[in-house]
This record gives sequence, structure tokens and C-alpha cells, in this order.
Amino acid sequence: MSEKRIDPVTGTETTGHSWDGIEELNNPLPRWWLWTFYGTIIWGVIYMILFPAWPLVNEATSGLLGYSTRANVAAEIEAAEAANADLRQGLVNTEMAALPQNEELHRFAVSAGGAVFRTNCSQCHGSGAQGALGYPNLLDDAWLWGGSLDEIAYTVRHGIRNEDDPDARWSEMPAFGDILEEQEIVTLAEHVASLPEGTDPLAGPGGELFDMNCASCHGTDAKGDRTVGAPDLTDAIWLYGSDVDSLVETITEGPFGVMPAWGERLGEAEVRAVAAYVHQLGGGESPEAQQGE
Ligand code: HEC
Ligand code: HEC
Repeated sequence: MSEKRIDPVTGTETTGHSWDGIEELNNPLPRWWLWTFYGTIIWGVIYMILFPAWPLVNEATSGLLGYSTRANVAAEIEAAEAANADLRQGLVNTEMAALPQNEELHRFAVSAGGAVFRTNCSQCHGSGAQGALGYPNLLDDAWLWGGSLDEIAYTVRHGIRNEDDPDARWSEMPAFGDILEEQEIVTLAEHVASLPEGTDPLAGPGGELFDMNCASCHGTDAKGDRTVGAPDLTDAIWLYGSDVDSLVETITEGPFGVMPAWGERLGEAEVRAVAAYVHQLGGGESPEAQQGE
């Protein structure tokens, strides 16, 4: 079948392959093709010497040039952090109250603080800081503990009613289930529910009970007291629910909202950054408003 011979027309040797009488000529490879082929081999060898190439057990051979995309990324991150280091230091050294006057620093704090918030705070306070049952809304100007930059930073740094930080904000509303009769609690709950409609906090039997048991923390005007984190009960903003059943439960059991302390976990620059972020969301107060409280 396969028989090599010289093709009479071209004078070239055949490969001996023949299909229905059509024979294959044994032409040499074109020169340009051959040189390109050799070129790629040389290129490949040089590449393997210069660049990371052969996979080993834990990493690849590093190559003479020491090129590494991972090292490049690390260097870029380091450069970005070095650029931010000054801003971070500036943030730690600045009086919080004066921060909004320093436009560049304030902008940096708010954007860094937004990232801190999304990572650490949104699971409780909501991704838009709108809050949820038991977790306060941080967008409005109703503050349990205070809405100036310094007060927010303090709350974040030390947390609320946690055992981890001795400087945590602390106060405890008693569980009135142990103190008052069930009927008295229902009377109080109905009274409290009506406060946002303008009922006089001290009026009627509910008012009498309120004056005796509740006014010491929530005030005789029921507008709350930030020094003990006692909320304003007249503002129609409820952390634990506004209907009478919820209020009975709140008063019976005593609410006990806990927020972790972030000072150790985040560091001072991040605490200040996230405070600046929260402050500019809508409800931030000036230092004067805080003192007027
Ligand atoms: C585990 C849930 C949880 C996480 C996480 C959390 N918080 Fe809170 N936070 C709370 C609770 C609960 C309260 C309300 C405590 C109370 O009733 O006094 C609160 C209260 C606050 C207050 C006080 C609001 C006021 O009205 O005075 C601020 C400010 C605040 N949080 C900011 C933050 C920031 C910033 C972060 C992230 C660094 C964060 N919180 C993470 C649960 C949480
Ligand atoms: C020792 C101080 C103290 C006393 C006394 C006290 N409270 Fe409170 N009250 C608080 C604090 C602090 C909170 C907020 C707790 C939290 O956020 O977890 C609170 C929260 C509440 C809430 C929840 C408000 C909301 O936004 O959901 C209601 C309702 C309430 N108190 C009603 C009463 C009534 C009624 C009495 C009297 C029977 C009373 N409190 C007595 C400190 C007090």
C-alpha cells in the first residue's frame, strides 16, 4: 500500500500515502513556520527562567525577575494605607467637635466610617441604619444617650450595658412585674401609649403611678433623661413596640438593650470614623445641643 516514490510532475518524494490515487508529497516545512516554531521554544525557555513557572509543592519557582502579582497587590495596598496613615492619625488627634470644620478629614472619616458600619453595625442597626425592634434607628434625631460626635463616639467605644467594658453606658429599668400589680401595669401601659397624643404625664390614675414609679428616670414631663439612657416616651418613637401589649411586656420585664463595646476591637481611628458616619446620617447634633440636654 504505502510505497515511497518520486512524483514525476514535481520531482518531490511522496510520503507513500495514497487515497484513491491522490498521493501526498513529502514537502519540507516552510522556513518561516519553522523559525517561528523555534522562536516560540526559545521564548518559552527564557520565560520559564525569568518568570514564575513550575509549580512546586507550596508555590511555583519564582523566576529571576522576582515578579509576583500578589506582591504587587500587597505593595499597592501598603501604599494606599501609608497615604491614609496621616489621615487616620489626624482623626485620632482632632477634637471630635471640630471635625466637621476640617473638610478633608471629615470626608475621609465619613467614607471610612461607612465601611466600618456596613461590616460591624448593620447586622443590628440595619444596612441603612434604620434600626429594628430593640435596635435604635440612627437616622433620626431621637437619641437615648446623645447625638453629638463625642457622645456617639463614647457610645460606640464603650458600648451599652455590656460586661466587657467597665466604662460602658449603664442603667437599668427595673422589671416592674416584681413591683406593681398586673392591673397597675396595664393602667400604666395605656397611659404611656397615650402620651404621644398629648396626655399630661401626671394626669389621672396612670399619671399618679407614673409620678411615683417612672418619673425619676423618664422625667415628670416623660421626655426622658439621657444621663440614664431613659427614652422620651412622648415622641411616638418606640424601641420595643407601641401597642398596649408590647408596653405591658416592656414594663413588666424591664427592657435591657445591650450593645457591644467597639473601642478594643476597632481601634480609636475607626471608632471616630464610624461616629462621624453615624453623626452625618441625619440626626447628628452639635455640641451645644448636647449641653442643653
Ligand atoms: C449586637 C447588636 C449591635 C451591634 C453589632 C451594634 N449595636 Fe449599636 N446598639 C445596639 C442596641 C441594642 C442599642 C440600644 C441600647 C439601648 O437600649 O440603650 C444600640 C445603641 C447604639 C447607639 C446609641 C443610640 C442612641 O439613641 O443614643 C449608637 C450610636 C450605636 N448603637 C451605634 C453603633 C455602631 C456605630 C455600631 C458598629 C460599630 C453598633 N452600634 C453596633 C445593638 C448593637
Ligand atoms: C431606673 C430608671 C427607670 C425607671 C424607674 C423606669 N424606666 Fe423605663 N426605661 C429606662 C431605660 C434606661 C429604658 C431604655 C432601656 C433600653 O433601651 O433597653 C427604659 C425604657 C422604657 C420603655 C421603652 C420605650 C421604647 O422606646 O420602647 C418604656 C415603655 C418605659 N421605659 C416605661 C417605663 C414606665 C411605665 C416606668 C414606670 C413604671 C419606667 N419606665 C420606669 C429607665 C427607667
